[in-house]
Order: sequence, then C-alpha cells, then structure tokens
Amino acid sequence: MDEATQTGVKVLVFETVAELYREAAAALQKLAEEAVADRNRFLLVLAGGETPIPLYQRLAKEPAHASFPWQQTHLFWGDERAVPPDDPMSNYGMAQANLLQAAPIPEENIHRIKGEVAAATAAREYARVLQKMAGNGLAWPRFDLVLLGLGADGHTASLFPGSTHPSRPAQATLAVTGSYDQRPTSRVTLTPPVFNSARNIYFLVMGANKAETLASVLQEAGSPVRYPARRIKPPRGTVTWYIDGAAASKL
Ligand code: 6PG
Repeated sequence: MDEATQTGVKVLVFETVAELYREAAAALQKLAEEAVADRNRFLLVLAGGETPIPLYQRLAKEPAHASFPWQQTHLFWGDERAVPPDDPMSNYGMAQANLLQAAPIPEENIHRIKGEVAAATAAREYARVLQKMAGNGLAWPRFDLVLLGLGADGHTASLFPGSTHPSRPAQATLAVTGSYDQRPTSRVTLTPPVFNSARNIYFLVMGANKAETLASVLQEAGSPVRYPARRIKPPRGTVTWYIDGAAASKL
C-alpha cells in the first residue's frame, strides 16, 4: 500500500482489491469500537453503488460478525434511489442483501430513506429522522463515519455535476434528479453540510474509468460544481481515500 497524507486527508492506494477491502473493514471496525468507547454509539452512513458490496459482505462475516459493536451501531444512507426497498436498484436493498440480513443489528437502529414514496416526501421525512437522532435541537447528528463512492462523472452520493447544493448549514436532505449509468434518476441525498460535519469519511474508488475524475478531484482541478466530490471537505474531520491501482493510474 502507498500512502500520501495532507492535513486531514489520507490517500491509500492498494495493489489488490482484497487488501483494500480488508484494510477498510479493519479501519471501520476500529472507528466503531472507538466511537462506542467514547460516546456509546456508532453512527455510520452507508454508500450505495457497487463498490462497497464486498466491504459490507466482509462486515457480515466472521470475525466482524461476532466482534463488531452491532448493538450500538446506527445505520443511515447517504443517498437513495426512488425505488421500493426490494427493487434491485435500491441502495437499502443492496445493504440488506449484503450486510443487514446477516449482521445482528437491531431493527430500530436501521434508518433507511424511503425510496418507495415521492422523493420530495422521502427527503422531508428523512430530515425529521436525522433531527430526531441528533437531539438537542440540532438538524442532524455528527456522523462517526460516512462511506462514499465516486462516479466517473465526479458525483458522490446523489450530488451530481452541474447542480448547486446548499453549502451552509440549512437543509439536511434534498430530492434531486441525476442520470448515471442507467440507474434510477429520481433520488434523495444528504447535503454537503451534513457530510462535512462528519468525524470521518471514507471514499472507496476502483477502476480505470474513474482514474481521470479521481485525479481532478484529488488535485482540486475543475470546479466543485463540475466535480461535486470536491465539496466533501470536513473542516473538523478526516477523509481517507481507499483506491485501487487502476483508479490511481492518473495520480
Ligand atoms: C448511488 C451511490 C453513488 C455511488 C457512485 C459510485 O446511489 O448510486 O450512492 O453515489 O456511490 O455512483 O457507484 P459505484 O460504486 O457503483 O461505481
């Protein structure tokens, strides 16, 4: 593994994807254990897409299955597509199939975005879920870890190129449309201020088709409107990039 560090940003490049998932799972579990030791709960935001699937599968198996602090873990989603939970395109459905059905996580700790209702309604309802979890009159909790992916077009979560999103603390969730890779276009996403208040963010990026975009994002070339992943900059948090050799080829 090659490692480069700037303040608050770590870029980890792995020779094999097996090593990447192993390291990401181990680091994630360590964060969970520290969060539970410090605050008695671990607030984790899951990413959709395909890249995190092997990570979720790894967490669902031993040794994590038995040793992970599932009882104190609360799961949220960074974005959801407007499809029912049992649709093959549902981000919740993906997590259910690869993690939730095997991991002993209490039902009441699973906070999904309702893809089966109109996106504007789901966004409003999810903002209330976040507010309730935050308590103390806050609009959302400070997440311990947010998992994110990167689209070849520069999107992350459902923050798509060309759209402006609130950058000051205001709205926690948005209903948006964004077209990518024949996936559902109507979506709900958390907003940059929510992601940027997190304690930790892991981006998981793989594949040669993302190499150019990844280079632009990491080298801060092109505008954040063109590359929404550039908007992820938690002032009081860390960002770790888990990247395979193919995605890193233009760095
Ligand atoms: C979604 C995601 C999205 C994803 C990227 C990368 O709902 O599609 O949350 O932001 O992370 O599109 O997707 P892949 O991991 O499949 O390349």
